[in-house]
Amino acid sequence: MSDRPRVVVTRRLPGPVEEELVSRFDAQLNPEDRPFSAGELAEAAGAAQALLPTVTDKVTAEVLSAGSGELKIVANFGVGYNNIDVDAARELGIVVTNTPGVLTDCTADIAMILLLTVARRTGEGERQLRAGDWTGWRPTHMLGTKVAGKTLGIVGLGRIGKAVAKRAHHGFGMRILYHDSYPIPEAEAAALGAEERSLEDLLAESDFVTLHCPATPETRHLINSETLKTMKPGAFLINSARGDVVDEAALVEALQSGTIAGAGLDVYEGEPSVTPELLEMENVVLLPHLGSASTETRVAMGMRAVENLDAYFKGDPPPDRVA
Ligand code: 8YV
Repeated sequence: MSDRPRVVVTRRLPGPVEEELVSRFDAQLNPEDRPFSAGELAEAAGAAQALLPTVTDKVTAEVLSAGSGELKIVANFGVGYNNIDVDAARELGIVVTNTPGVLTDCTADIAMILLLTVARRTGEGERQLRAGDWTGWRPTHMLGTKVAGKTLGIVGLGRIGKAVAKRAHHGFGMRILYHDSYPIPEAEAAALGAEERSLEDLLAESDFVTLHCPATPETRHLINSETLKTMKPGAFLINSARGDVVDEAALVEALQSGTIAGAGLDVYEGEPSVTPELLEMENVVLLPHLGSASTETRVAMGMRAVENLDAYFKGDPPPDRVA
């Protein structure tokens, strides 16, 4: 038996990351990339010192306390860690880490892609062309909504929210409003052209609302039938944070009734399931959780998880400890 720490890796990771894991640890990889069942996850975690899960793994109290209790650290592959019961981890003395920073730009890009796509109807246009239904240019063909000069409301002005503000304000000439439980220093807000608002005022004033808050009990269904009704008529909702932040059934209703004009979504309440009505709507852009999906970023996320594991097993503080 190896004396190196046993690390269970739940999904296929980019090649360089897997090579690094194998070189540093007794790594159990998942070459077939088949998601673990709850039972398999508990069994694997129960026989390891470390777990490297992803957003598709529910790391529950049962998983954390399974087996012989050797599990010391959960190094999540991702910045969001709502897939992990961090309270249970704390109680059990298990360290939890995430991968902040390295996915900021790509996730901000996806938010802008969703915003631009839904505003300018480019998904709809591409579908029309590929279906052979484009009859030629005309002045009134597929008119969308102009982005420059419009107001963007950012809910959660952390790393990703700020990167979106930078793109939208400096790149696309948008006015920026933000809401966050921790307002940022005034000079930093000014550099991003961002004005602080209550959630209520932000929803009422914004032409586009983009969500960049973590999924917590407090933010669950922050966007619901009541808050959707307070959005500016003709506004668009963008979500590249977590599905739980939006009540998907209420969103469908708001889109059907015309309460809001459209939505751009990268995340869903019951991933990979998507509320079927959304699939039928032309004014909705739907991506399969691609926020951080670039080669460079996924390698960097993996290396960050490796660094966290390495630090822990060397007896150093893991750089990205969250619990
Ligand atoms: C990841 C994400 O793709 O980091 C996050 O929080 O949502 C995505 O970038 C996912 O979490 C991978 O586990």
